[in-house]
Amino acid sequence: MSDILRVRALSAGYQPDMSILKGVDLKVDAGEFVVLLGPNGAGKSTLVKTIAGLVPIHGGSVKLRGEEISDLPAHLRLRHGLAFVPQTENIFAQMTIRENLQLAAQILPKATRAGRIAAMMDTFPDLASRPGTRAGALSGGQRQMLAVARALIVEPEVLILDEPSAGLSPLMVADVFARLKAINASGITVLLVEQNVRAGLSIASRGVILVEGRVAHDAPSADLADDPVVAQLYLGGRAQEGAQ
Ligand SMILES: Nc1ncnc2c1ncn2[C@@H]1O[C@H](COP(=O)(O)OP(=O)(O)OP(=O)(O)O)[C@@H](O)[C@H]1O
Ligand SMILES: [Mg+2]
Repeated sequence: MSDILRVRALSAGYQPDMSILKGVDLKVDAGEFVVLLGPNGAGKSTLVKTIAGLVPIHGGSVKLRGEEISDLPAHLRLRHGLAFVPQTENIFAQMTIRENLQLAAQILPKATRAGRIAAMMDTFPDLASRPGTRAGALSGGQRQMLAVARALIVEPEVLILDEPSAGLSPLMVADVFARLKAINASGITVLLVEQNVRAGLSIASRGVILVEGRVAHDAPSADLADDPVVAQLYLGGRAQEGAQ
């Protein structure tokens, strides 16, 4: 098995004496689509931010393709193929769609920038149809698409997203999820933080449930969806009724 992302005994937090993550183990195989679930305050955002290089590590390791990256600053992790779409402030609202993409492309060699921006415009026709529109004027779903396009501009191997469905209408959530499915099908490994357990398990092949800074469950999505304990805790008990 080829794991592309490997987190071992990871502890991390915003202050040196207070670990929010308390020994997290997580493995994501190349090409996999994994959803990270858990109650509010469980540490989901902290975990993905730590993987992206945005929260100090207190112990443990983060490896990408077997290479230790936990000492690398965030922008070098991006260069190594790990792209992260944060939960908030993932676009520049005052800038146009084109400017947002241009800024994201700055990390690339100059000669490749225009080509990658054009590729993103091809992939996201909604954005291409109005490159001069201010990002702040877009709908919630389109903003998330722009945030995803910004992350994809570097052709990452791993795409990590923190609740891109937050605040979106069901129709827009379906749109964003369909896009993430297609991105995964194109060969990019996806780690998605999702608030809605049922929706998350329906899109990913495996679910990891974080509780109080620790992994409480890690199993194929179908197993988690059928698990009476998981159902009772996170799904309102409906699967449990069906199981008995
Ligand atoms: N910037 C910060 N500084 C200090 N503590 C923080 C910071 N961000 C989050 N925390 C704390 O870390 C813990 C985990 O928060 P985190 O945002 O990772 O949870 P989460 O699982 O993403 O929750 P949610 O579902 O609400 O997004 C919480 O106790 C929170 O108060
Ligand atoms: Mg969060």
